[in-house]
Amino acid sequence: MTSKQSHRKDEHVSLAEKFHQSAEMTSFRQVRILHQSLPELALTDIDPTTAFNGQKIPFPLLIEAMTGGSEQTGKLNARLAQLAAATGLPMAVGSQSVALKEPNLATTFSVVRRSDPNGIILANIGAGHGVLDAQAAIEMVQADALQVHINAAQETIMPEGDRNFYWLDQLAEIVAKISVPVVVKEVGFGMTAKTVQKLMAIGVRNVDLSGRGGTSFAKIENFRRPDKEMVYLDDWGLTTPESLLEMRKLATRPTITASGGIKTPLDAIKALAMGADFVGMAGEILHHVLHEDQDTTLEWLNQWLADFKALMLLTGSQTLRDLRKQSLVYSPELEAFARQRFI
Ligand code: FNR
Repeated sequence: MTSKQSHRKDEHVSLAEKFHQSAEMTSFRQVRILHQSLPELALTDIDPTTAFNGQKIPFPLLIEAMTGGSEQTGKLNARLAQLAAATGLPMAVGSQSVALKEPNLATTFSVVRRSDPNGIILANIGAGHGVLDAQAAIEMVQADALQVHINAAQETIMPEGDRNFYWLDQLAEIVAKISVPVVVKEVGFGMTAKTVQKLMAIGVRNVDLSGRGGTSFAKIENFRRPDKEMVYLDDWGLTTPESLLEMRKLATRPTITASGGIKTPLDAIKALAMGADFVGMAGEILHHVLHEDQDTTLEWLNQWLADFKALMLLTGSQTLRDLRKQSLVYSPELEAFARQRFI
C-alpha cells in the first residue's frame, strides 16, 4: 500500500491538518445572524431533523468526503464511519479513483460500509470518470448517493494534475444512467450561479458548493510543489457565503449542500439561514479525529450537535424552515460582492 497515489492520500491528510485554521478564521464571520431576545420556544420544541433523499436524518449535517486509499486513511475512514453510525449523520468517502486503479485499496473505502451498515453513505469520484467507474464506486461502498467532485483549480496547481476539463458530457451521462442521486461538488473553491446553471441544464439536481474558507487545496497542492509554487492562487475561488449568495440568482435552485469552512454550529446555522439545505464538514472533523481518541471525538461531535440545537432555539427557529426566515447582516466586503454580482 505504498504506491504514489496512496502516499498522496496520506499527504492530503497531514497537509489539511497543517493548514487547519482556528474557528475564528472562518469566512462566516462576514455574516451576522441577528439576536432575538424573545425566542418563545424551549429546547424540547426544537426539531433539527430533515430528509436526505427521502430518509430521515437527525441533523442537516454531512461528514464530508475526505479519505481512503492508503492503510492509514482506511483507518481514518473506519473512525469517521463509526462517528456517522453513532450520530446518524450521512458520510461521504474520499475519491475512490485510486481504488478503481488499484483494487487492493478498495477495502480502505468499503470499511465505511462495514462500520456503518445502515447509514447513509456517499461514494465519491472525480469528474472525468464514466458511468462504469461511477457504478463501481457506488458498489464498492454500497452507496446511497454519489458525489462527483469538480476540482479544476486543484488539478491546475498540481504539477501532475489533469489539464483536460471537458467534464459536462460525462457528468450528463452519469446523471442520466446512475440510479442513486448524484451530487456535484467542489473541493473548496466555491461555485458561481453560472456553474450551477450549467449543471442543472444537464440534469444535476444536487450541488455541494464547497467554498473557500476552510481546507484549502490551493495551499495543500502548493506545498506539494515547492519549486513551482502558484501561491498567488491561495485566495482563488469563492467563499462559501459568496457561493450561497450566488444561488440567489437562480430561478430554480438545486438541493444545496454548503461546505467549506463550516467549523462551528454557528457557521452551520448561518449557512442554513442563507439557503443551504445541508451543511458539510471535513477539515474540522478530521482535526478532532487526528488529535483525540474516538470517545473524545464523539463527545465533541455530540456537543456540536447539541449546540446546534441550542442556536436554533436562540434564534427562535423551531425548524430548519424557520431558520431560513432569520435576519442576516453582511460585512461591507460581502455586501460589495453581492452588489457587484447584481444579487
Ligand atoms: C478533502 N476533500 C475532498 N473532496 C472530494 O470530493 N474528494 C476527495 O477525495 C477529497 N479529499 C479530501 C481530503 C482531505 C484530507 C480533506 C480535508 C478534504 C474536500 C472536502 O470534501 C471539502 O470539500 C473541503 O475540505 C472543504 O470543507 P472543509 O474542510 O473546509 O470543511
